[in-house]
Amino acid sequence: MKKVYFETYGCQMNKYDSELVAGMLELEGYEQTAKADEADLVLINTCSVRENAETRVFGRLAALGSLKKQHKELVIGVLGCMAVRLKNEIIKKKPFVDFVMGPDNYRCLPELLSRINNNVEEHVELTEFNSYEIYGELFPAHAAGKRAWVAIMRGCNNFCSYCIVPYVRGRERSRSVKDILTEVEKLAKQNYIEITLLGQNVNSYNYEQRDFADLIQSVADVLGIERVRFATSHPKDLSPKLIEVIAEHPKICNHIHLPVQSGSDNILKLMNRNYNRSHYLKLVELARERIPNLGLSTDIIVGFPGETEEDFQETVTLIQQVKFDGSFIFKYSPREGTAAYRMKETLTEKEKVNRIQILNEIQNRITLKRNQKLVGKVEKILVEGPSKKAKPNQYMGRTESNKILVFNSEAPPGQKLLDVKIVDVQGHTLFGEIV
Ligand code: 5AD
Ligand code: SF4
Repeated sequence: MKKVYFETYGCQMNKYDSELVAGMLELEGYEQTAKADEADLVLINTCSVRENAETRVFGRLAALGSLKKQHKELVIGVLGCMAVRLKNEIIKKKPFVDFVMGPDNYRCLPELLSRINNNVEEHVELTEFNSYEIYGELFPAHAAGKRAWVAIMRGCNNFCSYCIVPYVRGRERSRSVKDILTEVEKLAKQNYIEITLLGQNVNSYNYEQRDFADLIQSVADVLGIERVRFATSHPKDLSPKLIEVIAEHPKICNHIHLPVQSGSDNILKLMNRNYNRSHYLKLVELARERIPNLGLSTDIIVGFPGETEEDFQETVTLIQQVKFDGSFIFKYSPREGTAAYRMKETLTEKEKVNRIQILNEIQNRITLKRNQKLVGKVEKILVEGPSKKAKPNQYMGRTESNKILVFNSEAPPGQKLLDVKIVDVQGHTLFGEIV
């Protein structure tokens, strides 16, 4: 049996794609290994969203080059967004890479591998877009556990001015309701209990007149599924109908990840986000009014070209006003080919770092305060396993609102839903006792 080793960078969609490719390779007789040095095939699934993600992959590729020197038959492939964006550079700078393959071309992988293994091809680039490719009837080899991620759409049509995704993942397309439900039903039979529906902008899901609010209800109604999550939402498309569905359906988790990117209307306009601060605030108000104990998280970019001190202060006040449960704050990273790449950068690296620090400090204080309010309450968590900084007998899980909760248990509790009383808070982490 041949062995394949995966290394996946970037977002959940990439992780899903690696599982999809793993599923295809299983049918070809490959088994997965966690060790690169015993693999016949190494696949690096890459991310282009920020420059540092790409730098890391180039570093990793250098190490894999030495592995190939010891093991001449090893086949190395670069998958994902970098394959599309940097195909020539990868093949030129890392000639030991056998092929690069974009997110719309994975169906060709088995045939390509047999051609490479028979020495018919070398240095192959397969990166064309295919706006019909939705990997309909293919089923991924989902990672073991109780939680699974399911792609409901691919690509993006929004062209936010800073973002490379539309250029590397192509146009938006929705997967059929039938395929999605078949995958979820299969997962339920395999005892998965939590499903996260994935798309670059799930709120614009549309398949034969069924929108995202319709879809998520059908998924939550699948027998055996206990929790449903989704990512990512776009403030211009998140509908009041979806908010009602989250509020009413007990299995749909009370968590929304709603990237705001900036608090300044000027910057939102330059970012081509198609909403303003006031729309965002109204949406949050409605969601908080309708969904009890809503967990709300966001993404923010600091240092976008032209971001003045006033613009930055608008982001500061937005964070203070909304009081997110958590924020992912990024430094703007210019991406060649995007509209923002042509705008002149106006901030130094130091200024960007400084702004990131200010926002992180404010957010950390807010997160702590919000979490402290939960002390004494009982939350249902889905146990994931031993806690990351595992002390003996310490396990972790997530609340419905997506907060990490650590608790003690003499015996391994198994991966299941459990009622836990919150007794303490440290930073972003809740600590609890089994009820
Ligand atoms: N620079 C910095 N952050 C970016 N993101 C997307 N593109 C860029 C970029 N060029 C961030 C956005 C998005 C998250 C996934 O990554 O905040 O929501
Ligand atoms: Fe990028 Fe905007 Fe599409 Fe998100 S919605 S993937 S930020 S272009």
